[in-house]
Amino acid sequence: MSQTPNISGAVSAPHFYCLSFADVDRVLEIEEQVYSHPWTRGNFHDSLYSAHQMLGLQDASNNLIGYYVLMPVVDEMHLLNFAIATQHQGLGYARILLDHLCASAREQRFLSILLEVRLSNLRALSVYTEYGFSEIGRRKSYYPVVGNLREDAIVMRIEL
Ligand SMILES: CC(C)(COP(=O)(O)OP(=O)(O)OC[C@H]1O[C@@H](n2cnc3c(N)ncnc32)[C@H](O)[C@@H]1OP(=O)(O)O)[C@@H](O)C(=O)NCCC(=O)NCCS
Repeated sequence: MSQTPNISGAVSAPHFYCLSFADVDRVLEIEEQVYSHPWTRGNFHDSLYSAHQMLGLQDASNNLIGYYVLMPVVDEMHLLNFAIATQHQGLGYARILLDHLCASAREQRFLSILLEVRLSNLRALSVYTEYGFSEIGRRKSYYPVVGNLREDAIVMRIEL
């Protein structure tokens, strides 16, 4: 029987917690699994030194399911990283992470969340659009692509 993403249920009891330097190894395991151009250890350390909000969702056995990184910019939160481990994808955890980060930003009185996503990342685009994010612009050739090419970013925002 597959486990359903129920953050209050006793079966899997996933819960959120603040990631620290001690978690970077296991974050990198997922990061390198899911991205063609993953963040480096240095990127995560920089984020932690900058006091970005880095939250992980882990199950009852403390296995990391996914994580997100938020950077406050005036009255807007920027979603810098958002990932679910491959074996946990397709189960609805993305919405649980989005619910959590939106609620957290709202509680801190931020007015909106901004993110960038690769034009080719149809899965993430579908998740964000379905959640209520809207495209507000594009950044030309923003992302590197294998083979020395570049790819546009779609900039999306949701009002809180
Ligand atoms: C993007 C990501 C977080 C989504 O998590 P997930 O667990 O796969 O998401 P869910 O299962 O909740 O939802 C996936 C949705 O995308 C849809 N989908 C799946 N594959 C798709 C594809 N190739 N094209 C379009 N939509 C797709 C599914 O049908 C599902 O929609 P539904 O809920 O209406 O059925 C996850 O895939 C991931 O970590 N990807 C790698 C990192 C990444 O790209 N992060 C975003 C950076 S901007």
